[in-house]
Amino acid sequence: MQGEIETRRLIRDAVARLAPYTPMPPIERLAEGVGLPVERIIKLDQNENPYGCSLRVQEALAAHDRFHLYPDPEGRAVRRRLAAYTEMPAERILLGSGADELIDLLYLLTIDPGDEVIVAPPTFGVYKARAELFGATVVEAPRRPDFGLDLEAIGRAVTPRTKLITLVSPNNPTGNVASTEQLVRLLRLGPLIVLDEAYVEFAQRSALPLAREFDNLVVLRTFSKWAGLAGLRIGYGVFPLDLMPYLWKIKPPFNVNAAALAAVEATFDDLAYVRSTVVRLKVERGRLFRQLRKLNLLQPLPSQGNFLLCRVLRGDARTVRARLADLGIMVRGYDDPALEGYLRITVGRPEDTDLLVKALIAIAEHL
Ligand SMILES: Cc1ncc(COP(=O)(O)O)c(C=O)c1O
Repeated sequence: MQGEIETRRLIRDAVARLAPYTPMPPIERLAEGVGLPVERIIKLDQNENPYGCSLRVQEALAAHDRFHLYPDPEGRAVRRRLAAYTEMPAERILLGSGADELIDLLYLLTIDPGDEVIVAPPTFGVYKARAELFGATVVEAPRRPDFGLDLEAIGRAVTPRTKLITLVSPNNPTGNVASTEQLVRLLRLGPLIVLDEAYVEFAQRSALPLAREFDNLVVLRTFSKWAGLAGLRIGYGVFPLDLMPYLWKIKPPFNVNAAALAAVEATFDDLAYVRSTVVRLKVERGRLFRQLRKLNLLQPLPSQGNFLLCRVLRGDARTVRARLADLGIMVRGYDDPALEGYLRITVGRPEDTDLLVKALIAIAEHL
């Protein structure tokens, strides 16, 4: 490659225009950045399960003796387990290297240049960023001031070029859910609805049963949050049956690795354990909410995810976040103007809550 001009000529415009995505740094870098050992870092910034995966996962991986062979390209054993878990036919289930890959596959499947994708911000930023990368025009239908969906705005955003309406429920980062009535109204608009249920295990109910009634609903889920498998990268989607042959055509043949497949089987072998960690986190969500409310520094919003979006009441969000980071407590901040003054805090273990609250009390004294 010779020089900048030739390189730019090579690169697709959508890629050149794309704002770089900056994921959270790994825990080792976070620790190095604040000069603390990794064990002292309390990671409340990516909605991971602090209890980790089942021990059965570690045993299954240690005992696995076929890592030299390619994995099952169809992930049949895992899809059978998922069929039982979701009560949906295995023929409608596709696995991905995280839900993230399934979002890409949906765009790869549907987007011609200039097609439109509707998003309802503030929400998980990947939907907008990847849609633009795939050449779609993103049409925003912002949420209401209370972060509820604005159905009229979504309705108005639909045009003949609308390919997908993307929704997240419970929504990241606001924690609220779309009601069944809202979803039914949106499904009746016609375009394919992509409903991201990454956090559904922490919520009161799933909208997946609607996928039996409506053939324009895709539901995406992941093992990253509730099941403690974020590092292994595996998620799944339940799709309209008619889309499946096309998805099989475009999916990279071995997109989900053998370790992830084995880990999910082991997770289902020990579902009671994983579910017990979810129960603990839901209980802790309530305690964290009450503790934060007492402090009068952060105002948490009710949430059905494993995180709380909090409005910073005194000082500014950046300062509070930086002071927490200095103490080894990592929470999520935002550049998005719609989330100015907010921090998102993942629900941790009771001891994490205690240290967080102690740190916030100390920070509040010096604001
Ligand atoms: C709403 C939502 N969807 C999808 C993902 C990505 O999930 P995965 O780890 O399965 O790629 C996340 C992760 O933060 C998320 O918040």
